[in-house]
Amino acid sequence: MSIIVSPSLLSANFLDLKTDIESLNKIDDLWLHLDIMDGHFVPNLTFGEPVLNQIKTVCKHKLDAHFMVTDPDFFAENFKNVGLHNFTFHWEAVTHHDRLIDKLKSMYASVGISLNPSTPVSVIPKYLLGKIDLILLMSVNPGFGGQKFIPEVIDKVIELDRLRHENNFKFQIQVDGGINDQNAGYLIQAGANNLVAGSYIFSEPNKDYLSRVNKIR
Ligand code: DX5
Ligand code: ZN
Repeated sequence: MSIIVSPSLLSANFLDLKTDIESLNKIDDLWLHLDIMDGHFVPNLTFGEPVLNQIKTVCKHKLDAHFMVTDPDFFAENFKNVGLHNFTFHWEAVTHHDRLIDKLKSMYASVGISLNPSTPVSVIPKYLLGKIDLILLMSVNPGFGGQKFIPEVIDKVIELDRLRHENNFKFQIQVDGGINDQNAGYLIQAGANNLVAGSYIFSEPNKDYLSRVNKIR
């Protein structure tokens, strides 16, 4: 699998989003990671459908939405015309996982499940691993950019990669939180193929985002 980097818009310049998105358009094999927060599942609020409708008019990359919300079912309906490629919800927020996954599958090309750092991989039954397109392992407690990487996530990547091989599952393994050029190599070696990075990419002083993306790869 090739390595996809998904820059998290949360760390971009919100006063000049268009410039940042156009810089990312010059780089290949990216997704654009969009952190949707509701102020309930996590103690922060970000952006919603009106902002995304404008972003999609300038972004050439696939839109990768990470819903840190208590009611992903509601957001599934609300965002259905935004043109998202991937819809990831948090396992911890949902009671009826199968029902939600079936619904999302009928609406979005790719459906992901996210696990908080303290949620073990074993909560997801095998039959759902066979249905899902992406598993997002959080390597920080969600809610904010710029937090410190929790290295124990590497063991979860190894466990998930083993399950993927043993069962010939096709899901991507995405990791999100505190990713930089120091830890990306360990994650890729462990089996991750999709890395989200916010502050590491957007803090590049000359806005040379390609150099940061290449260092992650
Ligand atoms: C955190 C978000 C992340 C965040 C990553 O809750 O899910 O996507 O923006 O930012 P960094 O890479 O700065 O940790
Ligand atoms: Zn995220």
